[in-house]
Amino acid sequence: MSKTAILEIDGKKYEFPVIVGTENEVAIDIEKLRGATGAITLDPGYKNSGSCKSEITFLDGEEGILRYRGYSIEDLADKADFLEVAYLLIFGELPNTAQLEKFENDIRKHTLVNEEMKSILEGFPKTAHPMGVLSSLTSALTAFNPKSVNVENEKEMYDAICKTMGKFLVIATWTYRRRMGFPLNYYDNTKGYVENFMRLMFEIPTEPYKMDKRIVDALDKLFILHADHEQNCSTSTVRIVGSSHAGLFASISAGVSALWGPLHGGANQAVLEMLEEINNNGGDVAKYVLKAKDKDDPFRLMGFGHRVYKNFDPRATIIKKAADDVLDALGVDDPLLDIAKQLEKVALEDEYFKSRNLYPNVDFYSGIIYRAMGIPVEMFTVLFAIGRLPGWIAQWKEMRLNKEPIGRPRQVYTGSPSRAFKEINQR
Ligand code: ACO
Repeated sequence: MSKTAILEIDGKKYEFPVIVGTENEVAIDIEKLRGATGAITLDPGYKNSGSCKSEITFLDGEEGILRYRGYSIEDLADKADFLEVAYLLIFGELPNTAQLEKFENDIRKHTLVNEEMKSILEGFPKTAHPMGVLSSLTSALTAFNPKSVNVENEKEMYDAICKTMGKFLVIATWTYRRRMGFPLNYYDNTKGYVENFMRLMFEIPTEPYKMDKRIVDALDKLFILHADHEQNCSTSTVRIVGSSHAGLFASISAGVSALWGPLHGGANQAVLEMLEEINNNGGDVAKYVLKAKDKDDPFRLMGFGHRVYKNFDPRATIIKKAADDVLDALGVDDPLLDIAKQLEKVALEDEYFKSRNLYPNVDFYSGIIYRAMGIPVEMFTVLFAIGRLPGWIAQWKEMRLNKEPIGRPRQVYTGSPSRAFKEINQR
């Protein structure tokens, strides 16, 4: 592979360095392109553009590979727990026992949320979507933690990370408690992170709360599968907001908003809504497959397709098995699950989906598991956000420590050329 790329514009040749990543991914370094040629590149949706060099996550969409810091997602989902994976993503190495215990204990020091946050929460209508509330509350944490992190100071950085991990989980579950009219719950520092998620969500003061270990384990796995996915929409958002040196809470809050959209993290909610619609309309799966294929119909099969995975989504393979295990263990009998299975089968055999490499993605199955666990549909994307939090933090930290410049794309202007101002009575 040559180490340079030649670009010819108007007969003039320009040479650009070629960068090769650890896994032999090839990139043409065009940092000096505009300065040298006056031209920019145009790449809507950034399908061909790398925004940074990163040591965190490797994925190969063609081969269906996903690795965090070099470890395969299959191994991590099978052998590690969520906080171990969070530590790995954020600090670069798997923790030993002492490091893991310290990390968990340090997170516990930050699990109390300022009581005044409750009045902010109460200001939202109960009908507000939890993702909107979560984004606002995360942003509001800035007001209670106004000192922005000195990223050069390792201890300050570490404390900010533990604080974010602790408080985010609590406020995420508060969005649900408020919606349900339940009293807000506090973290129990004698229990694990994922166990606390279940307690914070579902424990009510009037009766003892029984935790199902199978559910906690499955959730732990789901959080691991969602923990990072390199430069996806929400992560790029976190990095670009953070690149202006906005604080960690503000950057994460922006990530939550980006994740909310139905083409990104909101897809798991959209999957369930689609299954409900199919069920309410008589369960005719074939009709909806036809609709998805009809170019005059905006309907798409939610939970199918992926911007990067064009072969299979390795997370979907793991989660499909977890879904089967959870459904069996809980003995769930649900018509929506039958529809999901039919849909999966029909779409996987259909030429339209096959020729476009449209496979069920991670969100297709996560929604199904969440429903079986009794988690309400409007909380699905919040769970995704909890899982993605370590990835956002790791990417924010990397971006700041690498001293990346402020993110500021260019454009090709296609509007009107210069024109004279028209007085209002002449328009
Ligand atoms: N149903 C029907 N057709 C689809 C679907 C779908 N779910 N997804 C893609 N297509 C078709 C497109 O119409 C297009 O067809 P054409 O070539 O005949 O025009 C072709 O497949 C390629 O689609 P693009 O939109 O160009 O693919 P892109 O990579 O830009 O989009 C995306 C990926 C946004 C995920 C898309 O597949 C989609 O909208 N899926 C449904 C939403 C979803 O499940 N999102 C979750 C993503 S996973 C995550 O965020 C964790």
